[in-house]
Amino acid sequence: MVRVNPHYSKLQSSYLFSDISQRITKFQEANPDRNIIRLGIGDVTQPLPPACIEAFHKAVDEMATAKDFRGYGPEQGYEFLREAIAENDYRAVGADISPDEIFVSDGAKCDTGNFQELFASDAIIAVPDPVYPVYVDTNVMAGRTGAFVNGRYEGLVYLPSVRENNYVPALPDRQVDVIYLCFPNNPTGATATRAQLSEWVAYARENRALILFDAAYEAFIRDPEIPHSIFEIEGAREVAVEFRSFSKTAGFTGTRCAFAAIPKTCMVYDEAGKPTPLYTLWSRRHTTKFNGVSYPVQRAAAAIYTEEGKRQVRDLSDYYLKNARKIREVISGLGFFCAGGDNSPYIWVQVNCDSWAFFDRLLAGAAVVTTPGSGFGSCGAGYIRISAFNQHEKVEEALERIHKLLK
Ligand code: MLT
Repeated sequence: MVRVNPHYSKLQSSYLFSDISQRITKFQEANPDRNIIRLGIGDVTQPLPPACIEAFHKAVDEMATAKDFRGYGPEQGYEFLREAIAENDYRAVGADISPDEIFVSDGAKCDTGNFQELFASDAIIAVPDPVYPVYVDTNVMAGRTGAFVNGRYEGLVYLPSVRENNYVPALPDRQVDVIYLCFPNNPTGATATRAQLSEWVAYARENRALILFDAAYEAFIRDPEIPHSIFEIEGAREVAVEFRSFSKTAGFTGTRCAFAAIPKTCMVYDEAGKPTPLYTLWSRRHTTKFNGVSYPVQRAAAAIYTEEGKRQVRDLSDYYLKNARKIREVISGLGFFCAGGDNSPYIWVQVNCDSWAFFDRLLAGAAVVTTPGSGFGSCGAGYIRISAFNQHEKVEEALERIHKLLK
């Protein structure tokens, strides 16, 4: 008899964005004439930058000739891409990461979801609240939690990110082993200062804990004081792993390319306290379970590091940031408290009523999709998240409709 993984029964019935998507389908079926505008899931709408398209085409053409054809690539990623990442994303900001510490993958969602495999089943996991649901659900699947009670899983340590702390959680008041951090934050749009990240690094060093730092939205940082990488913080090489993605930076949500940076000096420990480099474990996992991102996609990704590629991806994030500013302006003009939207594509809106009820109100009254804050955790109750990923005209129209509905 094949027995089911019992931990799956603890999960909420469906993944947040699948749940929302079902509600949208139902609404559209019932209202076929309504033109729905999606400011829910953070999915990009603008085409790939021309530099990426050109490199993509060229690489596809190479695959058409016996001379340049490529079969399996290196699981860790082609050197040309890892070199470009190390140089432009790390050395350029004074962060010491070498090309062989980069692991190219098909998404930060997969990487942040898979990484927990490397830890003991009784590892104590800390997550911010609200939180990107992937961090939580994958630990539930692995059996690191108890039941879901009053909006939280037993056994997880939740770190409240609330208006009072500017959505940057305080250090835990107990010892934890693994800490998920995400800045610029999904869903709140908050950013962490150098001093705040330094406190987290110091905590991790003192407690031999590990920080899993999700920097998928770093391309939206405009304030020069805000660090782009955890590795800009002294001592982080011993206690942190960083996840990045080309999805939001360069419009790769459908093209798929991301990477993890794992310093060789970052350790995990066995029962006797003997250290093992995390790098070796992830390398073993990656080479066993992953066969690499396709060559044309890696060429397209590497093109963002050329001079014109850099300009084009900057224009792309500026495009969405213009939406973000407009959303924040209109929604706060309606009297709602808003966070995010300046160094982030997400605007976190305090609606002071049930998140799903507000979501439904905007959907029914304005045909605009947002994301209910409570879907990200109990501290998200009373909030919605609005995504700036859409075309200017659609965002303008959505805001006009919302204004008309709520003014
Ligand atoms: C989001 O809307 O939170 C993101 O698009 C989800 C993701 O990147 O997987």
